[in-house]
Amino acid sequence: MAAPRLIAIIGATGAQGIPIVRDLVQSGAYTVRALTRDASHPRFLELQSFSPSSSSSAAVEPIVGTFTSEDDLRATFRGAWGAFVNIDGFNAGEKTEMFWTIRAYEIALEEGVKVFVLGNLDYVYKKGGYKPEFRCGHYDGKGRIGEWILQQNQDNQDRMKAALFTTGPYMEMAISKHTAMPVSVEPSPDTGAPTAVWRLPLLSGAIPFVSLDDCGPYVKWLFDHPTRANGLDLSVAIAHVSAAELSGAFTKVTGRPAQVLADTPLDEYFSKVWPVDPDLPAAYNADPKDPATLSVRQNFTGFWNSFRHSAGNEGVIKRDYALLDEIHPGRIRSAEAFFRREDEKGVRKGLGTLWERVQPDAMAHVLKLSEDSRTGKL
Ligand SMILES: NC(=O)c1ccc[n+]([C@@H]2O[C@H](COP(=O)([O-])OP(=O)(O)OC[C@H]3O[C@@H](n4cnc5c(N)ncnc54)[C@H](OP(=O)(O)O)[C@@H]3O)[C@@H](O)[C@H]2O)c1
Repeated sequence: MAAPRLIAIIGATGAQGIPIVRDLVQSGAYTVRALTRDASHPRFLELQSFSPSSSSSAAVEPIVGTFTSEDDLRATFRGAWGAFVNIDGFNAGEKTEMFWTIRAYEIALEEGVKVFVLGNLDYVYKKGGYKPEFRCGHYDGKGRIGEWILQQNQDNQDRMKAALFTTGPYMEMAISKHTAMPVSVEPSPDTGAPTAVWRLPLLSGAIPFVSLDDCGPYVKWLFDHPTRANGLDLSVAIAHVSAAELSGAFTKVTGRPAQVLADTPLDEYFSKVWPVDPDLPAAYNADPKDPATLSVRQNFTGFWNSFRHSAGNEGVIKRDYALLDEIHPGRIRSAEAFFRREDEKGVRKGLGTLWERVQPDAMAHVLKLSEDSRTGKL
């Protein structure tokens, strides 16, 4: 068997990074070097617990540093065959994220990386026809540079191939603490029965939810098939999930009542649902005085408007589900399948059923950002 190839990862300890590292390492085909600000964090130790079935030796090495340092980026990419880069826009803010994503691509080239995969999001401002209501900094900051990378790739592909891995809101956020789409368990006003309630300003739109566990197979496929991956924008989702599908799927799996209040006005969403002051910057290290900085309210208004205009896979955000079925035949294809898998996973891991896991005392963080209560510096 060929020696495992080294993949350098930015964002490895994050919600998205962990399942990607897990699946790359456990395949035995790859080892991972992860850039992190804290190699003693439990999430980094979790990465180091992953090993290929054929070996018990750790296959994840740390580079302690930040993506805002050229030296740290060089150290991360040096000698690596591949790179997976997910620059955290909720740390940096749109403007800074764009600069460091460009530098990450350039430095990966400089260091001789052969295959570069960008953790990307849809360029919703462009896809929505450049209408201001679709401006969403954490989507546009990635999507814009994603397009730039594919353009650069036309000149650079003989030296380094490049692909985009375009995701969307993790469905895990709908059952986790301190997210943009939290659930609360409340007595039904009609029957008094405990009911799972989501207050989401979705109207008749649909959320192109992503399953984190599916991210590993997709990203591994990109590294396994560099020629086909080259120049590809692999845009993934479980399905475009409407409000009725979300609540219906939850009830089917848990046997408990559920409701999505999809006509929640944006003002009520920001004042009652959002866990922090919506007039703060959407990124914890963005300068509030910089006119380029979007507030939570501005950023997430564009986020919801994009979903409001994506029902039926026909609007701003679209997916080629036939391609996804081909690349990952075992992928999660519906909200119900997602909740069922989560229910089984929770029971297997001793965390409880899905219903037990959405109770206020039991709910866990999925995002490292909220788990760490981040207010620190880049
Ligand atoms: N939430 C969603 O549904 C969703 C969906 C798709 C895409 N995204 C995008 O994914 C990105 C965030 O990743 P995530 O969802 O995995 O969030 P997360 O769980 O909060 O993880 C953040 C990751 O970014 C890393 N990071 C942050 N600042 C860093 C720095 N200065 N230098 C090096 N690494 C740094 C963290 O590493 P350390 O803490 O170990 O340094 C961690 O691995 C954002 O750009 C977001 O827009 C989010």
